[in-house]
Amino acid sequence: MKKNLAVVGVQWGDEGKGKIVDILSQGYDCVARYQGGHNAGHTVNIGDRHHVLHLIPSGIFHRDVKCVIGGGVVLDPLALIEESEAIERSMSIPLEGRLFVSNRCHLILPYHRALESAIEDQLGERRIGTTSRGIGPAYEDKMGRRGLRVCDLINPETLPDKIRALVLEKNRTLEALKHPQMIDAEPICDSYAQYGQKIKSFVVDTAVLLNEIIRSGKSILFEGAQGTLLDVDHGTFPYVTSSSAAAGGAATGLGVSPKHVHQVIGISKAYTTRVGSGPFPTESLDAAGDELRTRGNEYGSTTGRPRRCGWFDGPAARYATMINALDSIAITKIDVLDTFDEIPVCVEYKYKGSVLKEFPADAAILAKVEPVYKIVRGWKKSIAGRTEWRELPAVAQDYLRFLSDYLRTPISIVSTGPGRNETIHLQTPVNFR
Ligand code: GDP
Ligand code: IMO
Ligand code: MG
Repeated sequence: MKKNLAVVGVQWGDEGKGKIVDILSQGYDCVARYQGGHNAGHTVNIGDRHHVLHLIPSGIFHRDVKCVIGGGVVLDPLALIEESEAIERSMSIPLEGRLFVSNRCHLILPYHRALESAIEDQLGERRIGTTSRGIGPAYEDKMGRRGLRVCDLINPETLPDKIRALVLEKNRTLEALKHPQMIDAEPICDSYAQYGQKIKSFVVDTAVLLNEIIRSGKSILFEGAQGTLLDVDHGTFPYVTSSSAAAGGAATGLGVSPKHVHQVIGISKAYTTRVGSGPFPTESLDAAGDELRTRGNEYGSTTGRPRRCGWFDGPAARYATMINALDSIAITKIDVLDTFDEIPVCVEYKYKGSVLKEFPADAAILAKVEPVYKIVRGWKKSIAGRTEWRELPAVAQDYLRFLSDYLRTPISIVSTGPGRNETIHLQTPVNFR
């Protein structure tokens, strides 16, 4: 029986999860998203086609793979409708029978976006720099036990009154936050009732579906969004997203026992990026950072914001490796480093003159650590598109071996370009010594 696999981001998101999930999906019966919402932007390039998925799992381009949006995801129904219609157009086949949405997903409503904007405004310089999709306020309503769910959305009899009651409450909060515009419940009642009818055919109890898949001996790939350092419990709080992006989230977000998450692969860039606010010890604010951004085309897949760029952050990646107990790692975007004479890798953090033994919990401390770099020699030639380990220059192989040694984790995949085929699959993983 093939083992179920969780795919997680090791850094602050955008590691290339979309590309790797698309490639790996082929060997699985089902791909299931377990958290986050349309704050995610997962890019899949097939030939000259470029797809950015926000809600729909990155296995969707394989016609015999079932795709599940689990109850741990917060769902903006309009975003789902637009994305599913775009995919149906580009693939010329309906998604019904291939895409399944949990009846327990919490909903994002327009007041969540209004609240997020009001809260970010109030925070001023301390703002999180969110994606403005209403994600945080929707998760707040879930934890506060007042959110609306997909099972409410598809019940036209009870939906309007539930929306009206919540809008009343949210307007009180918006007023207190001095938000210039109040929310009108009626247009939301109308549009959400329509959305419910439109997405109804995708809605099932996905926990039942997934557990049946498991029982029948089939395999599931669990797709994480964001990254471990954005996880609400384990990330650089408060500069995080509001869900459990690390592997542990797969079980709670899907209603699948942790016993069924057999393996975890972590995706990491060969350097580091971050979008939004928060500490980023290895950020490069000079020409090298600009070069990484230009060469890596580091602009957000969801918001288009320029990503902050810097060197590989060893202590952060090592911490994420521990949190997820990674079985192996995929290193992406190694081709972006082709032009550098030297490649610094952060191997330690110093704080007030001493080496920190643990990844700090306090974002204020992380913001002040001094990264200690090991300088690795660059290979100075194009490795873009390489598909074999032996085609890599020895210096690039050394860089990858160094990362594997440092993280004490084998590297099983090396990505050398955005395309499906621009990938080195290591039958014998690059192993740490
Ligand atoms: P995700 O959120 O983790 O799925 O990552 P994103 O899709 O937001 O960002 C990754 C970006 O890097 C996308 O534009 C990918 O097409 C691109 N990409 C992925 N792997 C590689 C690679 O190995 N080399 C290069 N140059 N680009 C890559
Ligand atoms: P994928 O799945 C990178 C960041 C935002 C912000 C913080 C909180 O493509 O890797 P939110 O809107 O979630 O409340 O914002 O999290 N963020 C991401 N950064 N990739 C993502 O997703 C992200 N999703 C959220 O920029 O700093
Ligand atoms: Mg992304």
